[in-house]
Amino acid sequence: MDWPASYTRGMRRPFVGGNWKMNTGAESAPALAAATVTEVGDAARACDVVVFPPACFLIPVRSALGDAAVGLGAQDVSSEANGAHTGDISAEMLKEIGATWAIIGHSERRRDHGEGDHVVAQKLEMALESGLRAVLCVGETLEERKAGQAHQVTARQLRAACASIRAEQMHDVVIAYEPVWAIGTGVSATPQDAAEAHRMIRRELGILYSPELAQAVRIVYGGSLNAANAAAILADPGIDGGLIGGASLKAGDFAQVVRTAAARGQPQGRH
Ligand code: PGA
Repeated sequence: MDWPASYTRGMRRPFVGGNWKMNTGAESAPALAAATVTEVGDAARACDVVVFPPACFLIPVRSALGDAAVGLGAQDVSSEANGAHTGDISAEMLKEIGATWAIIGHSERRRDHGEGDHVVAQKLEMALESGLRAVLCVGETLEERKAGQAHQVTARQLRAACASIRAEQMHDVVIAYEPVWAIGTGVSATPQDAAEAHRMIRRELGILYSPELAQAVRIVYGGSLNAANAAAILADPGIDGGLIGGASLKAGDFAQVVRTAAARGQPQGRH
């Protein structure tokens, strides 16, 4: 398909997501949402900012976000439309309560719930067909990295997830490169390793779709990204933002990453 001419390299709008995981409570979730809105402030004009609270707090968080330019997403979505799937939440249900994004294929879902490439692909297809936007997570474990298979595994996950996704649907996908060994460990990937993985993912997108599409899709980094290391990691022009776990629970730290991403998102600052 044709992509708008403006989708040249450097025109991708930065994206920063806050994945709260299984944290916060009935009072602290809306409080964190409100603090995030305040701290992020005007930076949200130059960066897509989305928070992903636990499912049971989506509605109070939506109220706390009000009409601020901070989006709302779920940490997971069912691969099924409806019916006998105890504990699952469908894409339509999420839309009904005002969520517009879903994280799909997070390594903690792959690890804790045995989600393999096939179910991740089904979830991505269901989310996009239902009109949700998706953050698709890919990335290798430490064992896979040590075995020299980091790129191979990441590319396999990407190819499997995108197998039934049409080019025009990729407008609604942000890819998060999240090396599993960097998640929640305090040890982020080096800027060089992260940049190299992003280049590989963009190359794969070029093969799967087209070079134009590869330049248009946002690819963000996740794994111990925080206020202190954001400038170094987001310095590479191929890294379009981040998916943040631990640091997203502190509104000030999260906002600092948003500001860093927003500042580098100016077209003239990119090449
Ligand atoms: P972390 O989590 O920032 O706590 O490492 C990132 C993620 O899992 O998305």
